[in-house]
Amino acid sequence: MKKYSLNELREMYLKFFESKMHLRAKSFPLVPHNDNSLLLINAGMAPLKPYFTGQEEPPRRRMTTCQKCIRTGDIENVGKTARHGTFFEMLGNFSFGDYFKDEAIKWAWEFVTKHLELPIERLYVSVYEADQETAEIWKNKIGVKEDHIVFLGKEDNFWEAGIDGPCGPCSEIYFDRGPEYGCDSPDCGVGCDCDRYMEFWNLVFTQFERHEDGTYTPLAQKNIDTGMGLERLAAMMQGVGSIFDVDTIKAIRDHVCELANATYGEEYKKDVSIRVITDHIRSVTFMAADGVLPSNEGRGYVMRRLLRRAVRHAKLLGIQGLFLQELVKTVVENSKHEYTELEDKFEYIVKLLTVEEKNFNETIDRGLNILKSHIEEMKTEGKTVLDGKACFTLSDTYGFPIDLTREILEEQGLSADEEEFKVEMDAQRQKARDARGGSKYMGADETVFNQMNPAMKTKFVGYHETSLEGTLEVLANDETLLDAAKADDEIYVVVSETPFYAESGGQAGDLGTITTATGKGIVTNTTKVIGGKFAHHVKVVEGTLEKGQKATFEVEKAIRMDVSRNHSATHLLQKALREVVGGHIEQAGSNVTKDRLRFDFTHFEALTYEQIEKVEALVNEKILEGLAIEVKEMPIDEARKLGAMALFGEKYGQTVRVVNMSGYSIEFCGGTHLQNTAAIGTFKIISETGVAAGVRRIEAVTGRGALHYYQEMENSLNEVAAAVKAKKADVVKRVEAVVSEVKSLEKENEKLKSEIAASKAESLLDQAEEVGAFKVLATKVDGLDMNALKNMGDSLKDQLVSGIVVLMSAAEDKVNLVVMATPDAVKAGLHCGKIISETAAVVDGKGGGRPNMAQAGGKNIQKIGEALEKAKAVIKEQVNA
Ligand code: SER
Repeated sequence: MKKYSLNELREMYLKFFESKMHLRAKSFPLVPHNDNSLLLINAGMAPLKPYFTGQEEPPRRRMTTCQKCIRTGDIENVGKTARHGTFFEMLGNFSFGDYFKDEAIKWAWEFVTKHLELPIERLYVSVYEADQETAEIWKNKIGVKEDHIVFLGKEDNFWEAGIDGPCGPCSEIYFDRGPEYGCDSPDCGVGCDCDRYMEFWNLVFTQFERHEDGTYTPLAQKNIDTGMGLERLAAMMQGVGSIFDVDTIKAIRDHVCELANATYGEEYKKDVSIRVITDHIRSVTFMAADGVLPSNEGRGYVMRRLLRRAVRHAKLLGIQGLFLQELVKTVVENSKHEYTELEDKFEYIVKLLTVEEKNFNETIDRGLNILKSHIEEMKTEGKTVLDGKACFTLSDTYGFPIDLTREILEEQGLSADEEEFKVEMDAQRQKARDARGGSKYMGADETVFNQMNPAMKTKFVGYHETSLEGTLEVLANDETLLDAAKADDEIYVVVSETPFYAESGGQAGDLGTITTATGKGIVTNTTKVIGGKFAHHVKVVEGTLEKGQKATFEVEKAIRMDVSRNHSATHLLQKALREVVGGHIEQAGSNVTKDRLRFDFTHFEALTYEQIEKVEALVNEKILEGLAIEVKEMPIDEARKLGAMALFGEKYGQTVRVVNMSGYSIEFCGGTHLQNTAAIGTFKIISETGVAAGVRRIEAVTGRGALHYYQEMENSLNEVAAAVKAKKADVVKRVEAVVSEVKSLEKENEKLKSEIAASKAESLLDQAEEVGAFKVLATKVDGLDMNALKNMGDSLKDQLVSGIVVLMSAAEDKVNLVVMATPDAVKAGLHCGKIISETAAVVDGKGGGRPNMAQAGGKNIQKIGEALEKAKAVIKEQVNA
């Protein structure tokens, strides 16, 4: 058998189906679009679902792809065996109501026997037990011997996913890898669990639609969906034991071994860790390149788990320091040819993964500390099992993995209550499931747009023109298609050509009017809806609008200009951020409206004031330079050569639209733009904030929005000037003067207050009485808060030299009490804390304190006199006078 590299096999397959008139499309991003039934794309057919059901028109009725997939059904088992991986590529050829079983089977056989040159005597096929038609094709049209055809039940040979959606019987192709891979059981054959008969290609005859109630109805069109795992195929063709020995994956595995100074295949435990890291680094690299961010929910959580598991196993292997960034290089090196996004986003991927890796290292340190204190507690209490709740909190709240908890406990001769831990985990999972709710397989909800002809698409013709004479082709409300609508109705208008830009790529939809001979509607928004259509959201304001009428579509030009200014400025902003802050900056989101632009980007800390200033100045410089903006459609390869920036997780076709600002900023973009940056007018950043871990947001205004902003600033300035009674030019000086005047007045005020207090204190000194060897001053001073009371107490005590001060004040309906004693009084047995606790009781209060100083609060101001007497009595007792 000829050995092919994984990359060669992919190319052979796609080329083969191109020769059978299939449209070869790039892999769709891992993040599903318009499908909330899936966290991540898990099969070649997943992003194509609307083409199978006929909900959307495919670009061609035959397609072929190599699709990035992630399956995380049993993450825990990945690594334990060499069979599982979370990331894989799936080769597939698809027919949407075009060819069916005959061709699908014939071509699969041709590829396998003529191109891969697999020996026929080692090939087997399985057929769904109720599908005689397929068995006949294999036998009579292809010539497969009967003893190489196996009938299997629904479990094995009927493909469906989820509770509803397209599905059908399937037929699988197996390769006999030879007895050395077998289990030696006399029953060993196709369908056996061992590695000998390897199922490698699944041909699904997608002809039914499954419904939620478990019934099936035939689909209007018969389809083909085939899937072949590329890694598995490569393992087979390269004659190696597992996917971890396949050329491109082995390169990563070898790199892991090099970092760990370990040899693969020597020790089971180490092999598990090596495989975990090898697989997971591929998943997280591809996820990062498609814009997934680690988080605590959804696909972000999947990514976080995979990354943490890799880091965790690296620690088990003794890999020191930040290592993910090293491995990313090998992943990218091996796959960048097919997945250009890996190279485009390289700097960002490395930064993102490293930040997450660092955070996790800190998490581990924190978790270790918590676990240590649990262990100490267990030892003092004589326990040997750590309760499951504590394990769960460690894992759920602190991200500290249970296997690490288990291992550390074991080292100390202790264990974890894993039963209870599991109960907690299951409860948590159930909560997560409930929160997600049951989602349908097809994901997107049924809307009125599903009732429209799927073949009708809307073409945008408004890049240059903002008005068009057309026809009202389709009218609808939320429930149903309409023949006409009258004043006050809110409807959708769908046509095959429009000058209205539909909200996409972060740019708001156009606003304007639709007018006919009998009525007028205001377009309050324009959006993209299923099937490549645009919906004009229209409020009828005059007369009636009728289906089939001639109509004038008129976009409101001034608003379109405002939006375009903000959009063109967003491109300049992105470029400036990359220049000033760093090449890891990628667009994480963008929202451009008539009033402002909002740009989210990947960065891991707040921008400094200087950075913001620099970015703003740079964008304005480019506006002043008056750069010509050229928009051109070109083949994607040409655009890449130009260095055009692409968006995360965006699927581009063969031809792309490129917006080029005189070479300074070059981006893939479908939005509307100005012809020259000068028309932006001016650019002003109004805020910079954080929106999620690793994502910052800048809001800015341009053109009329900026003028409005400056106008408001000037109005405020005028108001300030009027308030401080200064000319505008002198405002700063005047405000500075006012502030410093306020400060000096405050100082003076403080000084006067303490002078008054001192003179009051002096007059109070006369009231001091002799009690034994000490002077006792117990008196009422009104209107002082606790602080002032303490200050006064301190100063009186010093002046008494040898004695006790008891001060009480009534302030805001409350009594404040302070008792202070000089050191010699304390030595002689006086205790302020005790004095105050008895005294405070008289005024319905509580308090206590040290021997030399105590404070308290009370409620009854009427009894201050009585309380003072009580204080004197207690003091007398204490000095035995
Ligand atoms: N949908 C089938 C699978 O995932 C064939 O592509 O196996």
